[in-house]
Amino acid sequence: MSRAYNFSAGPAALPEEVLRQAQAELLEWDGARASVMEVSHRGKAFIALAEQAEQDLRELLAIPASYKVLFLQGGATQHFAQIPLNFARGASADYVLTGDWSEKAAKEARAYTQVRIAASAAATNHDRIPPRATWQLDPGAAYLHITPNETIRGVEFHDIPDAGAVPLVGDVSSTLLSRPLDVSRYALLYAGAQKNIGPSGLVVLIVREDLLERCPKDLPKILNYAEHAAQGSMLNTPNTWGWYLAGLVFKWIKAEGGVAAMAQRNRAKADLLYGYIDGSGYYRNPVEPAARSWMNVPFTLPSDELDASFLKQAEAAGLLALKGHRLVGGMRASLYNAMPLAGVQALVEFMGDFARRHG
Ligand SMILES: Cc1ncc(COP(=O)(O)O)c(C=O)c1O
Repeated sequence: MSRAYNFSAGPAALPEEVLRQAQAELLEWDGARASVMEVSHRGKAFIALAEQAEQDLRELLAIPASYKVLFLQGGATQHFAQIPLNFARGASADYVLTGDWSEKAAKEARAYTQVRIAASAAATNHDRIPPRATWQLDPGAAYLHITPNETIRGVEFHDIPDAGAVPLVGDVSSTLLSRPLDVSRYALLYAGAQKNIGPSGLVVLIVREDLLERCPKDLPKILNYAEHAAQGSMLNTPNTWGWYLAGLVFKWIKAEGGVAAMAQRNRAKADLLYGYIDGSGYYRNPVEPAARSWMNVPFTLPSDELDASFLKQAEAAGLLALKGHRLVGGMRASLYNAMPLAGVQALVEFMGDFARRHG
């Protein structure tokens, strides 16, 4: 058996070079005579690794010095709660709903703060970004939360909305590092690692320092971002394995030409797949072209009854994890950085062949 093209939405495919390096140094890392998983996070060697990973991420995204970069845990879901707890207690926060993840984030925040829905595309089944002119922003909001890429329905912002003086918060779980990003337009960005960064169990959070002054002193320390920042993400034992792998992925992206090169490739992959789907007369993607995601491409076949056979044949052809999210059904191809163009070419070829045989 050999590795197949893996279209999983997350945990997702990692670059083969990264996996090979991790394999090569699994038993003995960096002269430690032990695995990276078996050494103290407070030892010199691991601290150097942690600092290098942060430095590489800062370079990749040109993160301004006035931002802290945190390597945390809890998955993006924990931060759905932690963000309002830190920044919106006793205040009100604005949320823009563009899909299932922004809906979940808003729902969770409701337990801790007053949530205003500034805009929503729910009425059209989240097939678009609500037009900017319809957004009703509260200039006094504690923050404005958006989900720049909705992993389930494949809706992506291709620009950054203007939040005025209100701090802009972005759940960039499924888009961070896929393209250049102007970090300075956001007050806070957070991402679960298991798409473009590394394994699950790690969250990268980038936060403007002045925001940390708002973190309430009476929060449990483990939920308080200011505490995590003050301790260099080592308030408790971090996910050392995840941090190590993220560091390898950052180095891989740098060696491949950085996020600009990733964007070029990602755009080419997305164009190929959407172009094929639209021209096929067989498959269908429901999202408005201007809001289509480069990372997650949902599509349907003419009848749900064909789904099982499509998935079975795709797997036999070496194309894995194409089943759509359980909330929407159909298919979904996730095209994160580690997916080569050749993988998308193989998918398009298979889809054409399947359509000819079943059309
Ligand atoms: C955009 C987005 N936000 C949040 C999450 C939840 O992440 P986690 O499972 O790490 O909590 C996901 C998971 O796929 C996601 O895609």
